[in-house]
Amino acid sequence: MICLGIETSCDETALALAGNEGLIASTLASQAQAHAIFGGVVPELAGREHYRYIGALYDELFSRASISPRDIDCVCVARGPGLLGSLLVGVSFAKALALGLGKPVLGVNHLHAHLLAAGLSGALVYPAIGLLVSGGHTHLYKISAPDSFTLLGRSLDDAAGEAFDKVGSELGFAYPAGREIDRRARGAKRRKFALPRPYLDNDNLDFSFSGLKTAAISMFRQTRGQPCPEDIDDFCGELNAAVAETLLAKTERAVGAHPDAAAIWLAGGVAANTAVREAISTLAAQRGREFIAPDPCFCTDNGAMVAFAGHLLAKMGYRHDLGFETVPRGRRIPDDMLRNIF
Ligand code: KG4
Ligand code: ZN
Repeated sequence: MICLGIETSCDETALALAGNEGLIASTLASQAQAHAIFGGVVPELAGREHYRYIGALYDELFSRASISPRDIDCVCVARGPGLLGSLLVGVSFAKALALGLGKPVLGVNHLHAHLLAAGLSGALVYPAIGLLVSGGHTHLYKISAPDSFTLLGRSLDDAAGEAFDKVGSELGFAYPAGREIDRRARGAKRRKFALPRPYLDNDNLDFSFSGLKTAAISMFRQTRGQPCPEDIDDFCGELNAAVAETLLAKTERAVGAHPDAAAIWLAGGVAANTAVREAISTLAAQRGREFIAPDPCFCTDNGAMVAFAGHLLAKMGYRHDLGFETVPRGRRIPDDMLRNIF
């Protein structure tokens, strides 16, 4: 079975082909530069950029792969959560293509696809605790199968990636700033700054990163006299540690509450973060659980994760009819897949 995956939920337009042996080909156009001057993604601009690039990326994908569009068995597309105008471009393209080719279409949950992307480079182990940390979401799941994700906890306000991006913008780093903060954190030497590990004094599995974001921004403003490069490295190191230790505490709690979980999965753009990866992989090792995470190149938004997750679901017999909807951030993805068609 060969699946096309289409990803347009935020500011990356990405397409990929996945088959029984894994990834066949992929293409991606990042809009990061178009949004950088605004310090964050501008939804209207994102939709227009997806529309501008999607057709050319589709042509490029098939010029790279030695197969033709007629060989696709299912057109898979990220249906949400994400920016509505951006999702509409990918979903409309996918529906039109499925109709034109006479192939089934499948709407894929973008967050589940992030987690399932680990299967592109190794075996997925179930049941698992899954931590998804991106620019828009911080979710903890119990995962029992590709079609069985139970939400255990989520961020009540900002996602961890949002905290990295907004603090990074204050530091003068280009959007998205998480990677640069992570890079600078590697140069940290002293424990000169102390940021909070937020929202841990409770017994739930939810997160809250808006307070950390505000604390970090105001702390940095206080040092603004003349921050030397070493101060910035130390500050980034402390931000990395604050985010990683907070994610670790709740993930540890989730593992304690679900002793049957054989693995801990970590995914999303922030899963590329050195401190976060180190903290969660160490937790897995200490608790005798397998650590599962996508290769760093598949952590941020990409088409391969949608093609691969779609492939897992299509193989199980799932598809959608043409009426399925796009789902913006903050709304629950309906349980509306149809089964046993193939
Ligand atoms: O998953 P993703 O590509 O897009 C969303 O679905 O949001 O994640 C993007 C986020 C951004 O906030 C970016 O700053 C963050 O992932 N990010 C990182 C790192 N690489 C990307 N954050 C911390 N450390 C990194 N190495
Ligand atoms: Zn994402």
